[in-house]
Amino acid sequence: MRAVVLREPGRPVGVEEVELDPPRAHEVLVHVAAAGVCHSDVRLADGELGEGRWPMVLGHEGAGVVEAVGDGVTHVAPGDHVALSFVPPCGACRSCRAGRANLCEPAGRNGFAGTLMDGTSRLHSDGETLQHGLMTACFAERTVVAAAGAVKIPRELPLRQAALLGCSVVTGFGAVRNVATVAAGDSVCVVGCGGVGLQVVAAARLAGAASIVAVDRGADKLVLARERGATNLVDASHGDAAAAVRELTEGGADHAFEVVGRPDTVRLAWDAVRPGGQVVVVGLVPRGVDVAVPGIEFLSDKSLRGTYYGSGDAGRDLPELAELALAGKLDLEGVVSHTTDLDGVEEALGRLRRGEGARTVVVVDPAL
Ligand code: APR
Ligand code: ZN
Ligand code: ZN
Repeated sequence: MRAVVLREPGRPVGVEEVELDPPRAHEVLVHVAAAGVCHSDVRLADGELGEGRWPMVLGHEGAGVVEAVGDGVTHVAPGDHVALSFVPPCGACRSCRAGRANLCEPAGRNGFAGTLMDGTSRLHSDGETLQHGLMTACFAERTVVAAAGAVKIPRELPLRQAALLGCSVVTGFGAVRNVATVAAGDSVCVVGCGGVGLQVVAAARLAGAASIVAVDRGADKLVLARERGATNLVDASHGDAAAAVRELTEGGADHAFEVVGRPDTVRLAWDAVRPGGQVVVVGLVPRGVDVAVPGIEFLSDKSLRGTYYGSGDAGRDLPELAELALAGKLDLEGVVSHTTDLDGVEEALGRLRRGEGARTVVVVDPAL
């Protein structure tokens, strides 16, 4: 089958013919319909998430149709529509037992190693083993994923829209609902309004936030943020953006979300919240990079917390988000700035590096 392979950082990714083994027990073979291109793919492709994460089939946000299931799989059957999740909880480890499925230990370990839950890969190329990008590897015609990584969704939802659920939507919505628990009337600041940040804006609006200040250095992103419900726009490319947010929110927002993954934007978010407020870091800060805030300000009850995968549970959250989209409360199409095919992935990564456009959707099989 055709798949987009990262050979080594700094070299363009490209489509190759690769082999995919059949699903083993507790695995699912999915015919990929569409996939979203995320900034984390750029981080992987640029070698910013650790050494040795290649050769790898990229792609961790996608949807498709189940083609076959391994032994022991009962929650989906061939023909079912699924959204893919790169955090398939094992259900048995300490984190899973504590109700923190997003921190599942074997899922985290194998996601980092580029293997499925049994520690091995189903992907090969001329006898060489390829890694499964974040256990999803969906920039490919087909993929084998852990059972819990294939989440059944209603077939009424177009798969091109469903493709966004498993990373940007679940991450953005989870940060607002599961982590910050934004309430009606709260003020919110969102730093970074790309594919993920726009979902934070949309979720804050649905939560009833009274003001949503969108901060970005791209004017086009700010327009998209306004369409998703931002009440105020701050261009971060000049002036003191944090001061502008404080002015718009009577001294600082209740919640700030950092959705870029840089120390300077974490600091911006910190400076934009009021005493007692909280910063939620959604962005992925590269390995080895430190983040700093003025320590004295912890005296003002401010807090800084992280989140992974919206701190939720994909099996529970993805179907709920799919229902929101079907009910017309979540506009998935509006964040898609470009559509392409597998050959267009490198170009889409380039756009993200340059800060151009929002989400690119890779239509892998136009027939689905
Ligand atoms: N100040 C304000 N905005 C910025 C800055 C800055 N210094 N630098 C970048 N941005 C904006 C970009 O203009 C863009 O709109 O941040 C946004 C980032 O969006 P994308 O590149 O589309 O990235 P996305 O896929 O949304 O991911 C955002 O979440 O999952 C993680 O790894 C991912 O860290 C990344 C973050
Ligand atoms: Zn992602
Ligand atoms: Zn677990």
